[in-house]
Amino acid sequence: MKGDSLRFVSHTEDVPSTLPDGEPVSTDGSLPPSAFDGTRDLGLYLHVPFCTSRCGYCDFNTYTADELGPGASRATYLDTALAELRLAQSVLGDAARPISMLFVGGGTPTLLPPADFARFLDVVRAEFGIIDGAELSIESNPESVDAMGLEQLRAAGFNRISFGMQSANTTVLKALDRKHSPGRVQHAVEEAKDAGFEHVNVDLIYGAPGETDEQWQQSLDAALEVEPDHISAYALIVEDGTALGAQVARGDVVVANDDVMAHRYVMADETFSAAGMQWYEVSNWAKPGGQCQHNLGYWTSQDWWGIGPGAHSHIGGVRWWNVKHPATYAKALDAGVSPAAAREILTTEQQVDEAVLLGLRLASGLAIDSLSSSGQERVKEAVAEGLLDPQDFDAGRAVLTLRGRLLADRLAVELLTN
Ligand SMILES: C[S@@+](CC[C@H](N)C(=O)[O-])C[C@H]1O[C@@H](n2cnc3c(N)ncnc32)[C@H](O)[C@@H]1O
Ligand code: SF4
Repeated sequence: MKGDSLRFVSHTEDVPSTLPDGEPVSTDGSLPPSAFDGTRDLGLYLHVPFCTSRCGYCDFNTYTADELGPGASRATYLDTALAELRLAQSVLGDAARPISMLFVGGGTPTLLPPADFARFLDVVRAEFGIIDGAELSIESNPESVDAMGLEQLRAAGFNRISFGMQSANTTVLKALDRKHSPGRVQHAVEEAKDAGFEHVNVDLIYGAPGETDEQWQQSLDAALEVEPDHISAYALIVEDGTALGAQVARGDVVVANDDVMAHRYVMADETFSAAGMQWYEVSNWAKPGGQCQHNLGYWTSQDWWGIGPGAHSHIGGVRWWNVKHPATYAKALDAGVSPAAAREILTTEQQVDEAVLLGLRLASGLAIDSLSSSGQERVKEAVAEGLLDPQDFDAGRAVLTLRGRLLADRLAVELLTN
């Protein structure tokens, strides 16, 4: 299998450390009237930009105690985030509506006390309301949670928890700079289930330096053993500016090549499918009812407000992103101004293109008649090449085959409007 675009196989969401350019945002954070057109679900994302140590591969907008510097602290973070929540409510005005999904991500959210998140949810309930049965999700590192903390998070209202497992092999965990031992994930998941969490996700990474197929299979099996209802499996991305990026550039370590990555992806899909977990996005598998509503909100361009340094938001075709550093973020909110760094107002064409780029990665696929005539021609070729499912094609949809999933992002670009 030729796999020269497999670096596109998997990508993560949340808050990367580099921000795009864009146009300025007014200091009150107000949105153009076009943002209030239409009815979409409203989600909240809260970014927690703190970690105990930095994993060598990680490019996310997160800070260790040494990196944080003056002007921001974990102790005052929640109050600052609440100031942005209140700003969101005033900017949205009459368009503020009960929240359909909420996701606390990081960084390492579970470095903050559970009481902070209980307070956050209380204010969300009071100011916006939360729809009955909404998914309330939080990310955690296995070594930064304990049974009591999990019980407190559950009591606060969280019903889904995501653990950064990454691998079940000690050597691979070490290569990834992870601090937990393999057995800790198993205990943490048991504690989460005992606490009453309805939904549990584990994140895995494949293609770490030196990882073998056997070690990857060990991780896949261990992930299934804890019986989560959701698994994300990401191809390791070597990011510039990270310790891993420098090691690779110096030739100190070699990461898996595209063919190995393709094989690992197929191993994951076969293992998860055999256990009754179906892919619903290229890097995500779930049991029935276990799909992540927050992620689906991103991928189907619903409205969400991202709170926190570097967090991105999208409301009605307007996308903006906050300043990166927690101290700059706190300074803006302390002064009563929007922490947004810049924004872009998406044209109709950009929105259509985004729907193609994101929609093709979903198991529900794309409506073929939503594509341009050249895109529709490319769909026919892709069916002949085995990248798209022929039966779905007959039903008017472009849905990736397993082989197509390996080349998803390249194909999506080829289907764009021009
Ligand atoms: C930013 S982390 C936050 C969660 C938590 N701090 C953790 O590490 O478990 C979210 C997920 O992104 C994935 N991730 C981060 N950097 C990555 C990279 N360079 N390549 C592939 N996956 C990555 C990991 O699987 C991680 O669990
Ligand atoms: S713990 Fe998670 S967010 Fe923090 S550095 Fe590691 S991968 Fe990144």
